[in-house]
Amino acid sequence: MARDPRYDILFEPIKIGPVTAPNRFYQVPHCNGMGRVFPDSMIAMRGMKAEGGWGIVCTEQCDFHPTADITPYTETRLWDDADIGYLAGMCDAVHEHGSLAGLELVHNGHGVGNLYSREIPIGPSHRPVEYYNYPGQARAMDKQDILDYRRWHRNAALRGKEAGFDLVIVYHGHDGTVPSHFLSKRQNQRTDEYGGSLENRLRLFRELLEETKDAVGDTMGVICRFAVDEMMGSEGLEWEHEGRDALELIADLPDMWDVNVSDWANDSMTSRFAPEGYQEDYVRFVKQVTSKPVSTVGRYTSPDAMVSAIRKGVVDLIGAARPTIADPFLPRKIEEGRLEDIRECIGCNICVAWDMLSAPIRCTQNPTMSEEWRKGWHPEQIAEKETDSHILVVGSGPAGLEAAHQLGKRGYQVTLAEARRELGGRVTRESGLPGLSAWARVRDYRLGQIQEMMNVEVFLESEMTAAQVLEFGADHVCLATGATWRHDGVGRANRYPVLGMDKDNVLTPDDIMDGKRPPEGPVVIFDDDHYYLGGVVGELLSAEGYDVAIVTPATVVADWTRYTLEQGHIENRLKQVGITILTRRNVLRVSPTEVTVLDTLTDREKTLQGSMVSVTMRLPNDGLYNDLMALGYSEKNAEIKSVRRIGDCYGPSLIASATYEGHKYARELDTELNTDAVPFKRECTSWS
Ligand SMILES: Cc1cc2nc3c(=O)[nH]c(=O)nc-3n(C[C@H](O)[C@H](O)[C@H](O)COP(=O)(O)O)c2cc1C
Ligand code: SF4
Repeated sequence: MARDPRYDILFEPIKIGPVTAPNRFYQVPHCNGMGRVFPDSMIAMRGMKAEGGWGIVCTEQCDFHPTADITPYTETRLWDDADIGYLAGMCDAVHEHGSLAGLELVHNGHGVGNLYSREIPIGPSHRPVEYYNYPGQARAMDKQDILDYRRWHRNAALRGKEAGFDLVIVYHGHDGTVPSHFLSKRQNQRTDEYGGSLENRLRLFRELLEETKDAVGDTMGVICRFAVDEMMGSEGLEWEHEGRDALELIADLPDMWDVNVSDWANDSMTSRFAPEGYQEDYVRFVKQVTSKPVSTVGRYTSPDAMVSAIRKGVVDLIGAARPTIADPFLPRKIEEGRLEDIRECIGCNICVAWDMLSAPIRCTQNPTMSEEWRKGWHPEQIAEKETDSHILVVGSGPAGLEAAHQLGKRGYQVTLAEARRELGGRVTRESGLPGLSAWARVRDYRLGQIQEMMNVEVFLESEMTAAQVLEFGADHVCLATGATWRHDGVGRANRYPVLGMDKDNVLTPDDIMDGKRPPEGPVVIFDDDHYYLGGVVGELLSAEGYDVAIVTPATVVADWTRYTLEQGHIENRLKQVGITILTRRNVLRVSPTEVTVLDTLTDREKTLQGSMVSVTMRLPNDGLYNDLMALGYSEKNAEIKSVRRIGDCYGPSLIASATYEGHKYARELDTELNTDAVPFKRECTSWS
């Protein structure tokens, strides 16, 4: 199909200093938990973005000196010539598809502990290192340090040029780089010409821009990545004040502006807290003060929103990180008029979590992310079927839908049976909770694909017994029957059922999603899951007029969401709606009207009035599987060649795990599996 002429503007080339981007799609820097440690994987992932049509494909932040050692994070590095090789490999992979390769140089200053290099961290002023409250300090840079710093940066840009990059990003952003620390009033207490006035605090950044242009600007475009607002009021940069003033002072110095908000938790805000395009209000002034091309970010997945941002004069290029992860082929799909094929990011930040955990990045929507090299998975291509098998998929949650979709794509005959009235399993149910509507994209994308497939048939309200499954006569049976939340309090903190916790006294998220409600009055939510559901259920009940308290054994509410950058946002939201947060508390006893908790810090018991909603752990819905086994099914004697469980019914986990499991099942069907072998290619560290 031809592309809609309304979107032609997105495909116009854009000149950035001495280079020209083939279109307006700009993959902004994003870490990926691979970087220098898994370079083949990183290179293949970047190449895939270029193949998918992103006109500019950048590295993640790339630290350029041993005093900027970001260990334990696994990102790119450019300390000396030895680091040029793999970055050149990335440039080649990007150039192969006609895109420009960009390098983001970074020095995180007092943000890093230099755990590997053991150098003393540096910054504008003496400050404790911010990395996980590491009990070391960054020392204030003296004049010689500043000269050294500028030289390191310049040399890194030159090495980038040698590697083959077309663009270099001078990075001031996220309250996480030395130039941003210098500009910040609260980080910079210097009294010399690098401290005090705005001009002074901006001096280092100006010097870096000038010197980068001087060093490589003849052949490379120089992009300024700049956060114009820290979203903390007058304590930080504000776009109406110093954010704008600083930008005006250097407005035409770089070849392009890449502007956003800070810190990272505000920039990569999840869909629960910010809609698509939410940064436009902060950056719309930028094009009025510079003649250079401008880009911003904001989880853009809709071509209409992209075109509108350009037509309104807010930006010239569309920057994107998460949309490129969820769908590396987003630009190509717009170009080919295949909008319904776009796999839209749901804004869950599981990608961020994997990066934060220093593991190869994964994505809820795109199970092939990071598997491009090690498993040879392509996000848009999958091998044709090996046999004429008919596959019965039972359950249409994220795992079942993904399996049915990919099996259908391979050409198999697929029957998808769903017990409920609606498809989508947990993503449909959870997307009805406050802030989670984007979860439905997991279902909608796959359903849209399946509906076009003649070889995939879908049956609703079709709960199957083991006898019916055997009778059905499929060659392979894939069980994706999900999981159910426990009522009895067992979870991380409690290994045995808690006194009084049973179906009569306790509701779970499943009950709430089924429409059940606690009796009127106060409600205590016991959150031993530490992810999003405890808080989300709290918000729902609070909006319905319940007086809600959240009790958690962790030291903060929704502890794990620190990895999705949401913990602070969640805590603020819960406080705003009046929810009481009680941390370091475990539940001892429950009655219909009272919950007795133990304060694990003081060892004191306290009885709270209210009924209980428990969010602890889930158990797989594997009854059908067990019945099949009990009926005597075995891979040797039944006509069915295989029965497999996938997703939550195999091991309850993230939605990202469910889509991955579904995808893996479909890829592996009819292949010889060797469970003794490592299931992917590995990048082995060499030794001398
Ligand atoms: C997994 C991940 C890693 C990121 N790493 C970086 C980084 O290394 N450097 C940087 O400047 N921004 C980084 N960001 C921020 C993005 O560049 C971008 O500004 C932000 O995610 C908003 O864009 P989006 O809404 O299109 O995702 C990262 C974002 C994500 C999701
Ligand atoms: S993990 Fe979630 S936020 Fe990240 S790209 Fe995928 S869908 Fe988007």
